[in-house]
Amino acid sequence: MIPTLGVCYYPEQWDEAMWANDATRMVETGITWVRIAEFAWSRLEKIEGQFTFEWLDRAIAVLADAGLKVVMCTPTATPPRWMIDKHPDMLAVDADGNPRKFGSRRHYCFSHQGYIDDCVRITQVLADRYGADPRVHAWQIDNEYGCHDTIVSYSDVARVAFQSWLAQRYIDVDALNTAWGNVFWSMEYDRFDHIDLPNLTVTEPNPAHVMAFRRFSSDQVVSFNRAQVDVLRAATDVPLIHNYMGRILDFDHFEVGEDLDIASWDSYPIGFLSDRLEGSDAHKTAFLQQGDPDMQAFHHDLYRAVGKGRWWVMEQQPGPVNWAPYNPAPLDGMVRLWSWEAIAHGAEVVSYFRWRQAPVAQEQMHAGLLRPDDTPAVGMAEAAQVGREITALGPLVQKQADVALIFDYPSDWAWSTMPQGADFDYFRLMFSAYRALRRAGQSVDILPSTARTFDGYKLILAPGLANTDPTLMDALANTTGLAVLGPRTATVTDELGIPKLSQPVVANLNIEIELSESFPPTHHRTVKGGGCVVHWMEKLRGPAPVLMETTHHGAALVGADGLWYLGGWPDREMWDRLVAVAADKVGIATTLLPDGLRLRTAGKYTFAFNYSAHSVDWDGQTFAACSVALWTDGNRVW
Ligand code: GAL
Repeated sequence: MIPTLGVCYYPEQWDEAMWANDATRMVETGITWVRIAEFAWSRLEKIEGQFTFEWLDRAIAVLADAGLKVVMCTPTATPPRWMIDKHPDMLAVDADGNPRKFGSRRHYCFSHQGYIDDCVRITQVLADRYGADPRVHAWQIDNEYGCHDTIVSYSDVARVAFQSWLAQRYIDVDALNTAWGNVFWSMEYDRFDHIDLPNLTVTEPNPAHVMAFRRFSSDQVVSFNRAQVDVLRAATDVPLIHNYMGRILDFDHFEVGEDLDIASWDSYPIGFLSDRLEGSDAHKTAFLQQGDPDMQAFHHDLYRAVGKGRWWVMEQQPGPVNWAPYNPAPLDGMVRLWSWEAIAHGAEVVSYFRWRQAPVAQEQMHAGLLRPDDTPAVGMAEAAQVGREITALGPLVQKQADVALIFDYPSDWAWSTMPQGADFDYFRLMFSAYRALRRAGQSVDILPSTARTFDGYKLILAPGLANTDPTLMDALANTTGLAVLGPRTATVTDELGIPKLSQPVVANLNIEIELSESFPPTHHRTVKGGGCVVHWMEKLRGPAPVLMETTHHGAALVGADGLWYLGGWPDREMWDRLVAVAADKVGIATTLLPDGLRLRTAGKYTFAFNYSAHSVDWDGQTFAACSVALWTDGNRVW
């Protein structure tokens, strides 16, 4: 597969006289794909039932005539104003009970059947018009499910839908009472339609209630998406895509991904560093204009799994964004570095957001490849360079990594419902493990928790996996590789209760967790030999050999043969030790990379990405600031 470039374009936001020149310049820049129409509903159907498609027909013609491939979008993330008059109760409601108003975007509740019907209707109209159009080479459904905290809604329609979801799941309300333990605090229900949404309660609601609501909210996204998939499948054979986001875990992306052909995500490295990641001031200062060296790669690997091997970057940051607390510009070289890093992780397409900076409205301070006056912005030259380089390099292939990390969305819902410690965040734990693997120079595959075969993986990490299915436990215990579980493995049931106390947590290891503790950042437990346990520690009981122990609080890592259990949250040094020892045991060669340097293998190529703002020496070679290096057969090409 030879990767290609794309761009996000809004013909409806520009004078039609500019389109042809835009299209020509896109092609000259090395762009192949152009994504259009995801926010164009008010221009397509200004008045209900009265469609104006002629402008879009002309835009598609201009773009395709220039040689571009169109990604057509359904515009359902931005319902027009008349839709609110039609369905006044379609607005999502926040946890404080306030409806979220019209005036920006994503102002809908996933449970509103009337709105879903209108989404199906507009999708059908688009499918009828463009489904068989050979100029449309892919479809994007909606835009960024979950953006602006929009998955969970406490609306009346959500309440009614939740009640019927509960009735289907539990059949008998007494079964629900028992499963949730509603006898505690006299919370028992007589009827499903008495069960309210778990907000505005006097103190915390029952965690089982919250967990059910989180599962329901995720299922609503899957069904919402599926309604449009069904329409498009009947009309076209080209791939269907959604553009997911960074660090959004509010719905099960693997389940949405099952219905689609390609996963894509929107990568804003500098915005994420300041807006969406924990990190010391020193770390955030060192990578202020480059982004975190592991954040993008983590999502590339995650979405490669969500897309069952096929994935794109649908939106790539090309310059400063507008939405983070602070919005510095990328250092020279970073737009190229981010693009190549995605490609090295298997992206079929890297598409820049957006073609030209908008001079109006919410995102007027957000860079594009062009400035509002049509002159090239700073990212343009680097995008064009990537375009030339990918053509010169030719096809890239991906091969299975030695190391896998299991990622499970419901685990995030479980731990965010019952963190039991303010810092217990599932993504944060997973990301700390991922970082350690990358510091050790590894390429990583991320797998869903539905995986049951791990053939070819030498090392499998599954930190913080809640509610572990025994078939997954068995598969991990029986794989030929080394599986490292814990902390909190299998410590909750589906209903967020404690499993039967007499059962060992991890049967194959015969380990029991005697108690769990969480602690603030001011406290840690020193581990003999280096590193410490932070945030969370379990007191483990059982005959499994101790592999790492704290100075005063017992075992931190136990295990034998192919199964280890981690009884705490490792700090950076402990993770590094753990990864080194585990890799050594299974015959994986590791290194310890300098802070900003990361590696990725893609078939016969090895890439090195230097996120540092200065040059870095490693393994007898020098890597310039913000640069990409490339080897094949041991020879450095770049
Ligand atoms: C994404 C979104 C785009 C645009 C962009 C700005 O979240 O999909 O429409 O808003 O962010 O960075």
